[in-house]
Amino acid sequence: VNQAVDPGEATLRLYRGTGLGARFHVRIRWSSCPFRELAAVIPTRSRVLEVGCGHGLLAAYLALESSDRKVRGIDIDHAKIAVARAAGRRARRLGADLDFAAESPGSLLPGPWDAIVMVDVLYLLQEAEQRSLIEACARLLAPGGALVVKEMGPSPRWKFLWNRVQETLSVRVLGITQGGSLTFLGPDRLERVMRAQSLATASARVDRGYPHPHHLLVGRRSRE
Ligand SMILES: C[S@@+](CC[C@H](N)C(=O)[O-])C[C@H]1O[C@@H](n2cnc3c(N)ncnc32)[C@H](O)[C@@H]1O
Repeated sequence: VNQAVDPGEATLRLYRGTGLGARFHVRIRWSSCPFRELAAVIPTRSRVLEVGCGHGLLAAYLALESSDRKVRGIDIDHAKIAVARAAGRRARRLGADLDFAAESPGSLLPGPWDAIVMVDVLYLLQEAEQRSLIEACARLLAPGGALVVKEMGPSPRWKFLWNRVQETLSVRVLGITQGGSLTFLGPDRLERVMRAQSLATASARVDRGYPHPHHLLVGRRSRE
């Protein structure tokens, strides 16, 4: 991995060979989601699984930022995974340890993982599925490993409402994201689900400078 190039720029370049739609999508996504802030909580030497990776933007960034990260991304959307795989092939030529696979809902890759990441995925699932996915992820964490979840929080109110409008358009009207209904459980309830899995949690707003109420939750397994 070329340390002279900013990993964010290098990540976006991976998508140059893909269609206009995907390129546009990853540009917008990159500028509207705090991926760098999320990467900052993931050790530079680690085994990372991203569940619901979409086009693979964060996974690719993590792998390009540090070639000591082994990064795997999965999603239920075959078209997005095809784009991610093409980016993955380019990233591997740069020395990154990165790969992607399409998986059926609820199916994960065997661990242990030092970090399992889910960015804006849980709200697309029913409450029971969200709980069982968090539980399944918790079981695959290595000792000291972390479940890193980025969802939308309830505050500030104007960001929350703006996000509702956009998500309804994206999921229900435009069909950009697969999913039937939207179930925002909110950070507090998700945190309780993590705690019930014996994960030690930390919760923080990461929305500074963004129009969306991004919220980060980290649930860490003990080292024993
Ligand atoms: C809003 S997109 C976010 C994509 C990516 N994480 C990002 O931040 O750009 C939600 C993604 O979750 C995926 N997804 C929905 N349900 C899933 C499930 N049960 N397992 C894995 N991925 C799922 C969708 O296909 C979609 O790519």
